[in-house]
Amino acid sequence: MTMTLDHIHHDLEFLQEKFGSESPDCAIILGSGMGGFTNRLENAKSVIYSDIPHFPPPGVAGHKGECYYGTLGKRKVLVFSGRFHFYEGHNMDIVTLPVRICGIWKIKNLVVTNAAGGIREDLVPGSLMFIQDHLNFTGGNPLRGPNLTEFGDRFADMTEAYNEKFLSHGLALAKKQGLKATQGVYLGVTGPSYETPAEIRAFKSLGADAVGMSTVPEVITARQQGMNILGLSLIVNYASGISASQKKIDHDKVITQSQSTEESFCKLLSEWVKTVDLE
Ligand code: HPA
Repeated sequence: MTMTLDHIHHDLEFLQEKFGSESPDCAIILGSGMGGFTNRLENAKSVIYSDIPHFPPPGVAGHKGECYYGTLGKRKVLVFSGRFHFYEGHNMDIVTLPVRICGIWKIKNLVVTNAAGGIREDLVPGSLMFIQDHLNFTGGNPLRGPNLTEFGDRFADMTEAYNEKFLSHGLALAKKQGLKATQGVYLGVTGPSYETPAEIRAFKSLGADAVGMSTVPEVITARQQGMNILGLSLIVNYASGISASQKKIDHDKVITQSQSTEESFCKLLSEWVKTVDLE
């Protein structure tokens, strides 16, 4: 199914009816195993994806498929707990539907989080990596096809895809909280198979620090709509062939690892939302 502007407006009206029409200060898309973040929201209201028109039910373990509206300190926050992946067979316009809704709602700030495999030596399971830039290896681009001028420029600029001020505030907060966090380049693939060791060696030589199956299409779409972005990867496994002690990559372990780091991840992210300078 192809999403039209009417579909997006229809979804927005539905959410505004549930949550009120005041535009949130910030939207957050949560990655696998990070759904516990929504427990931190104050005054939370929620709606399940299957009730939102045009939202397919998410099919991946670790994804709850619920949209929340609540506050964190003084900030109004919209949270998508669960995302639609390209590897599930969805078109890019479904993958990016939550971001499109945010853009039409005039939300200026977006946080995208994900679970990723660590390529760079120091990015061991349990580390946090703020995304400094990305490499698009999905083989697709969400802006391909007819362009709607309401969304912005077809030839979207990606020079500063990830907001530098957002990133440095994240790094400073992590330091304050005693967390091990760095910055790095995220390489987005389609999946759903994990990579071969040869692919990871190639990605490493191209400058990738971590690899994952999401985020890139959402970020491209959000930049087209002029949003400021913070990207945060939770490293849940060594990328293929990086560690002799990890014989294979197991999706269940990926979820367990993200849940075991959930507490520090949630603390960092909620503090970031409360204290960052928003534009
Ligand atoms: N590769 C791709 N996607 C991932 C990985 C990985 O190693 N870990 C979590 N998501």
